Amino acid sequence: MQKVASVATSAANPSSALADTWVSVALTFQGLKALGVPDRSLESFSWEFRQGMAARAKELGDVGDSSPENWEKPLGTGDVHVVVVAVSIDAQHLEAALTRARTTYEGMKGVVAIWRQDCHALPDEKEPFGFRDGISHPAIEGSGIPGSNPKEQPLKAGEFVLGYPDELGGIQKTEPEWLGRNGTYIVFRKLHQRVADFRKYLKANATSDLDEELLAAKMMGRWRSGAPLALCPLHDNPELGADRRRNNDFLFEQDDPKGLKTPGGSHIRRTNPRDASIAGVAKIHRMIRRGTAYGPLLPEGVLDDDGADRGLIFAFVGANLGRQFEFVQSQWINDGVFFGANTDKDPIVGAIQPGESFTVPRRPVRKRLQGLPRFVVTRGGEYCFMPGIRALRQLAGLET
Ligand code: HEM
Repeated sequence: MQKVASVATSAANPSSALADTWVSVALTFQGLKALGVPDRSLESFSWEFRQGMAARAKELGDVGDSSPENWEKPLGTGDVHVVVVAVSIDAQHLEAALTRARTTYEGMKGVVAIWRQDCHALPDEKEPFGFRDGISHPAIEGSGIPGSNPKEQPLKAGEFVLGYPDELGGIQKTEPEWLGRNGTYIVFRKLHQRVADFRKYLKANATSDLDEELLAAKMMGRWRSGAPLALCPLHDNPELGADRRRNNDFLFEQDDPKGLKTPGGSHIRRTNPRDASIAGVAKIHRMIRRGTAYGPLLPEGVLDDDGADRGLIFAFVGANLGRQFEFVQSQWINDGVFFGANTDKDPIVGAIQPGESFTVPRRPVRKRLQGLPRFVVTRGGEYCFMPGIRALRQLAGLET
């Protein structure tokens, strides 16, 4: 760990020599145990983290094809202890960083690399279904980094980092306090995307008044260009989609309480209802989120599955696994009760069961699309804790 700590990039010093590539280190609960963290400390971590993602499968909708027994090994087996993430501008810098990391862990007793996942950014920041991603992020009080939505109040640092006050006035702490301070929980999930099925579904369900692109936009809440339905409900506006100053500058309640522009069931309105009337308070369920594509792109226009594994490595960052990641995944994505749609699930990423549907609110009558297939399948994942630099160094000391 001593050596691993020396290759991690510090958020406080982004211009250091190590910063052409960001290297982050996170540990699973089994990893903390293997390092010899005492029981008293282990017990101070969040309950969900201690259980691990595989044990939470039912709550997360990881059933059927997505259930842990079908996951890619070693994910979910308890054998993953340390996760090293390297993010770089190109393959050359990435390989250099990985070589740096490899030379530090190779030869270390008890450390074996057991899994590697290569990911890449797609053109125009798109994800494999073809939508622009990485648009909407919360602002964090005191960070100095503006949020993407000028209409959203910055959130307390404690929502994302342990050791600071959060929106409910609490402070997430560990025992001892230095272990958690400046650290955060990370969720990563390997999500396979059935791109050919998604394209076929759009083609089969498009009608003269709801063409393929509008149907896709109703499911996401944004056109594939990133332009939000909230600001351009009838036609795409690619210029708006690419404009970071405008593409996230909207709320829902006043302008569109019934979801006639952005359906309540669409992916972005579910995962961030903003000011819409829902059961609960949206701001305590926010998250920092990154998605990076893996696998080959399915060429434009191809409607038949080529059998390749492709999708997204989804990453969540936040101080509260239960009320942030798990809540959004189980209540907002895989249920519809919170906005009055009974059992309807997220049409893009929900754990859809045969016979479920997607509702597009319209006047005079809503449109119900029956027979929605499941487009995203979980291939595996882990709950991790990413310590602050100081804690990482202290943890290194435990080893000897
Ligand atoms: C393969 C699976 C997924 C795909 C293809 C996907 C795609 C997208 C896209 C295209 C956007 C709009 C761009 C943006 O606002 O940045 C978005 C937004 C978002 N997604 Fe996902 N997503 C996936 C899974 C998830 C999961 C599992 C969660 C949470 C558990 C999630 C939470 C969010 C949130 C919070 C937003 C921002 C909503 C907003 O603030 O307007 N996504 N996603």
